[in-house]
Amino acid sequence: MKNYLHIFKSPEELANKFVDKLMDWIENHSGDEFHLAISGGKTPDLLFSVFAEKYNNSTLWQKVHFWWVDERMVPATHPESNFRIANNLLFSKISIPEENIHRIKGENDPMKEALSYSAQIQEKLPVQNGWPVFDLILLGMGDDGHTASIFPNQMELLVSEKICEVATHPVSGQKRVTLTGNAINNAEKICFLVTGSSKAQRLTEIFDRQPEAEYLPASQIKCRREVPEWYVDEAAIQKLT
Ligand code: 6PG
Repeated sequence: MKNYLHIFKSPEELANKFVDKLMDWIENHSGDEFHLAISGGKTPDLLFSVFAEKYNNSTLWQKVHFWWVDERMVPATHPESNFRIANNLLFSKISIPEENIHRIKGENDPMKEALSYSAQIQEKLPVQNGWPVFDLILLGMGDDGHTASIFPNQMELLVSEKICEVATHPVSGQKRVTLTGNAINNAEKICFLVTGSSKAQRLTEIFDRQPEAEYLPASQIKCRREVPEWYVDEAAIQKLT
């Protein structure tokens, strides 16, 4: 029975082990291109730093195409830009062709950028079931159980017929462009990376299959090909029964 829940003592241990596993997946991927969609937030920061530290000279970056699961609609120089953080921590430290980095242009009009990014994805990625196929999508989970920029008050984005939609952060009102649930679920593989005690309540609701989980976007991600894998630290599962 395959294990879909991987537990680590700390975020550092999780990042180190996951990076090695991901590079192994990339190396053993049969295609010439590995299409990887990454999330924003703080959790990936450690991943980027470990990638840059352990694999900065890897030639594997030549085949990796970076996409974003979502982006805050701010300029690429803005402190909250998901691209800015990835660029500072990773892309600026590795040898990767510029054309392999497909950022969502946060400086653009959100609706127009959602359409433009969807078209780029359709152009570059293989299509199955009428949807693009990412080789791997890395997702985080917010304290409120959101994932990507699909928030609990915008669950309709899970079943949108579009590849990308414009979302609105429920507290700040910040506009986001996000992959939709259907686009995410069509990936070959989905991995959640969730760390910290602030995620414990929601993780428990999801893994204990409590009724509340039905209203958490992160629990509604159903990868068509295989069950999403969860990479968590002990702090995030401290409440699990
Ligand atoms: C974003 C992310 C978002 C993130 C979660 C978890 O742009 O904010 O895509 O979905 O993954 O909010 O964020 P942390 O990793 O900071 O906990």
